[in-house]
Amino acid sequence: MDLKERLEQYTAQVEEVVTKYLPPETGYQKTVSEAMNYSVKAGGKRLRPLFMREVYRLFAGGPKEDSRGDSVRAGMEAILVEPFMAAVEMIHTFSLIHDDLPCMDNDRLRRGLPTTWVQYGYDMAVLAGDALALYAFETAARALGGSERPRAVAECMGLLAGKSGIGGMIGGQTVDVELSGKPIDPQRLDFIYRLKTGALLEVSMMIGAILGGADDSQVEAVEKMASLVGQAFQIQDDILDLTGTTEVLGKPVLSDEKNEKTTYVSLYGMEKAREAVRDLSAQAKELLWSLPGDHDFLEYLMDMLITREK
Ligand code: IPE
Ligand code: IPE
Ligand code: MG
Ligand code: MG
Ligand code: MG
Repeated sequence: MDLKERLEQYTAQVEEVVTKYLPPETGYQKTVSEAMNYSVKAGGKRLRPLFMREVYRLFAGGPKEDSRGDSVRAGMEAILVEPFMAAVEMIHTFSLIHDDLPCMDNDRLRRGLPTTWVQYGYDMAVLAGDALALYAFETAARALGGSERPRAVAECMGLLAGKSGIGGMIGGQTVDVELSGKPIDPQRLDFIYRLKTGALLEVSMMIGAILGGADDSQVEAVEKMASLVGQAFQIQDDILDLTGTTEVLGKPVLSDEKNEKTTYVSLYGMEKAREAVRDLSAQAKELLWSLPGDHDFLEYLMDMLITREK
């Protein structure tokens, strides 16, 4: 199987995992579950869970078979890693639902569909985002059941909260929103990127590493590597906002201009931005080479950051 086929197969597997953990659409409150599931089911690249599972395998080893031919590692993955894969995709989707709200980026298209607030109303979109954030932790807590490593699971839950909250995604979004329409210095722009986008990629890979049995210095290297990936990813997102098409991206182009955002491209120009994506990805790959295990697929994912068109 070549790497492109592997990406297709793995993405389909992630899809299945994420869907499995979605809330039931029942009860008087079913509108909110429908709104939660609407945006998650709309698709997306599923990069964060993909990175999480692959980093887990880097340390835990790839899937193995026992003497009966049953997949040993898949068993542990299902108990420990899969709830976190679903959880991080829920947090990410919650961040997108709120990011699109009229009070934030005011966008009407996401993952090829009307945004959650357009489809379900502003009120339900706020509630669906809140509910997804909390359901993520309810889901992650399921990794405690049947696990012999409750301390590792608890540590991962704490990290997930920290990197999603004021010291992570929400912290970054705060500065992003506050400085819309205002000049931003390079340090603050860097802060925004590291937090609003970098933090969730960091925690995805750190959770993979911790559950895979990495030691502290390895987890630190993974955090640094993921931060570089996150910064490259956001700069590429800014580039695509100017050069991409709505059809391919599944979200509006020129959203940043509309909202008078300072981006890496508006601050440094297109050439420098492209150079930064290449440079940050190269640095991330260098860190990857210092880690154990089979890197092929992770390298492929990192290359995608540079070449991706959506
Ligand atoms: C979009 O993230 C928001 C950013 C952090 C740039 P993705 O590009 O990963 O969105 P999906 O999950 O594929 O829709
Ligand atoms: C948002 O950055 C990052 C999040 C934390 C959601 P953008 O506002 O550029 O993301 P898109 O372009 O709407 O996906
Ligand atoms: Mg935004
Ligand atoms: Mg946006
Ligand atoms: Mg964008």
